[in-house]
Amino acid sequence: MINALRGMKDMFSPESEKYLYFIENCSKIAKNYGFIFISTPILEETTLFKRSVGESSDIVNKEMYQFIDKGNNDVCMRPEGTAGVVRAFVQAKMDKAGEKRRFFYYGSMFRYERPQKGRLRQFHQFGVESFGYSDVREDATIILMLNEMLEFFGIDAAIKLNSLGCPECMPSYKDKLVKFLDLTNELCEDCQRRKKTNPIRVLDCKNENCQKLLKNAPLLIDNLCCGCKNEFDILQNTLRDFNVKFEINPMLVRGLDYYSKTAFEFVSDKIGSQSSIAGGGRYDRLVEFLGGKPTNGVGFAIGIERLLELFELPESKRKGFYIGALTQEAEKLSYEIAMKLRINKKAYVLNEYSFKDFKSHLKNADKMNAKYFICIGNDELKENGELIIKDLETKDKKQVTVKSFLESL
Ligand code: HAM
Repeated sequence: MINALRGMKDMFSPESEKYLYFIENCSKIAKNYGFIFISTPILEETTLFKRSVGESSDIVNKEMYQFIDKGNNDVCMRPEGTAGVVRAFVQAKMDKAGEKRRFFYYGSMFRYERPQKGRLRQFHQFGVESFGYSDVREDATIILMLNEMLEFFGIDAAIKLNSLGCPECMPSYKDKLVKFLDLTNELCEDCQRRKKTNPIRVLDCKNENCQKLLKNAPLLIDNLCCGCKNEFDILQNTLRDFNVKFEINPMLVRGLDYYSKTAFEFVSDKIGSQSSIAGGGRYDRLVEFLGGKPTNGVGFAIGIERLLELFELPESKRKGFYIGALTQEAEKLSYEIAMKLRINKKAYVLNEYSFKDFKSHLKNADKMNAKYFICIGNDELKENGELIIKDLETKDKKQVTVKSFLESL
């Protein structure tokens, strides 16, 4: 037997139904906020992720599905969606035109991580990316939008917020931090590397010993320049205006290198240790890093598998028709009615090709949650034959001639 690869899984109903319900409703909300659907390739040049997500990140360092293709190109299955959308934005020259654009997307992402609950090697994200807005109220808007999405599904999440500063305040903060880190040689191996490549990543190391060592570390939010501080205040006040609760977490840096200023995560305490259900932030220099004209950017992505664990589908009501034949001779008419209902009436129809006894059909219809039940036997095939349409919800029955029913289709 051939099994799916480790950390990759098939999605059956009800999870697959929830997935569609989730995508449908998040798309609706994103569209209300002016976001437009974009689809970008799963496979991209490896350089794209090295230059955006960053060589110091675990994603690029350890987790990429990277290979040389038959044309000798170094390619990679996307570990996240932002880089591809930025590449597409620049490739379509939207940066040159100075356009403001808002995109949403969803699909598979790939990270070669150690699989565990809530952590897969192939997982799905729903993300949004907004280009051309320097106003911090855009950051507030996407956080409010994400909050609205979670509220729609009845999900309660804690919002963690931080500001990562800008090119004016970040370099001097980094120097301060490195000086502090130089005082110890007990950092974990990963942090020793991070100290050299991107020292702020040390702040959110999960290693307990590192966290202890960092207790007295200088904090980003105490070292913001006036502009960043002012924007961070506006962001907080806007969220408060809309009664959205949040918590400042000065150690929140996020695992991707492209952020500046706003960084945020939505966290749930109901799904185990992989508790981050969504994350995002501002990336004002990423378009430039990828060869475009400097353009502001801000966005987020939701981890769909983690989110699906947190809500149930609303109870589904009975719907559509179940049509079955009681004899072999009746199979043709049963199929004709089913197809005409589908094609001409755009109805939801479940049809059994092979004849069965009445009880088996009724059991099937009930299992499939059909509303109307029609069984065709030899009597229905006669001239002036009549069929009974049973409403399985109200138990009402309606009798019509086959001829008039077919005419109505
Ligand atoms: P991220 O924090 O790496 O951000 O991923 C976003 C979400 O994807 C996480 O909060 C988590 O729910 C989910 N996720 C990440 N890795 C896994 C995994 N191995 N298994 C299951 N779920 C996972 C980004 O990807 C950024 N591109 C977000 C962004 C968009 N920032 C700006 N725009």
